[in-house]
Amino acid sequence: MERKKPKGNQLIKIENLLSTNENVDVNSKTFKKIMFIYSVGIKEIQTKLEIIQKESKIFYEYDLIDHINTRIKSPESIKKKMQSKDLEFTYNDMIKNINDIAGIRVICPLKKDIYSIRNMIEDLPGIEIQKEKDYVVNPKKSGYSSYHMILNVPIALSKNIMYVKVEMQIRTMAMDFWASLEHTMKYKPKQEISKQASKELVSYAKIINKLDNKIMALK
Ligand code: GTP
Ligand code: MG
Repeated sequence: MERKKPKGNQLIKIENLLSTNENVDVNSKTFKKIMFIYSVGIKEIQTKLEIIQKESKIFYEYDLIDHINTRIKSPESIKKKMQSKDLEFTYNDMIKNINDIAGIRVICPLKKDIYSIRNMIEDLPGIEIQKEKDYVVNPKKSGYSSYHMILNVPIALSKNIMYVKVEMQIRTMAMDFWASLEHTMKYKPKQEISKQASKELVSYAKIINKLDNKIMALK
């Protein structure tokens, strides 16, 4: 006999599942549960992107996505960011204001691939775009260039469905090379880098942008 599947799973918020008005305790069960929920959000969007990556290869013989990286923000970074934003150290404030607890980065060969991927994300059923910033057309003062999106990704747990915020960065291999280099130079050493070095980095970002345009024209 066919088993009737109950379809009673409710769309809820993390706040309805856990007591989120408490202070953040990174060693608590609540923190562990929240981080698990974010990791499921990453998994969902990662799987969808891997399907796009393979489909492009098999159906269109085109490598649209070079690779995908994911990360969950460390408890230390969460703490630091909340302090720098002058937030109360509660789960509610964390969930509401920290958009990059779950992060996924998509690296593609060409500049135009960034927009193809962006549009495919927009067309994915269920996924909502909460916010987006185009640092490809408008690079940051630092020279940084990438396409940023904050996504609301629906996840299905055994009893509930909920939306999880995931920060997505889409960039070319050349942009990724620059951003990684700049990140190690700026964030690793204890002292700030010189004005001259920052200027040089901006000029390298411009060279990389030219390179991205040339490679696209070549293809
Ligand atoms: P924050 O995450 O608080 O900075 O919020 P925001 O809304 O200003 O985020 P934004 O979209 O500007 O940038 C978020 C992420 O992009 C950072 O966590 C970095 O991963 C990356 N990013 C932004 N600017 C730079 C930059 O100048 N250099 C590098 N290497 N990465 C950057
Ligand atoms: Mg960040």
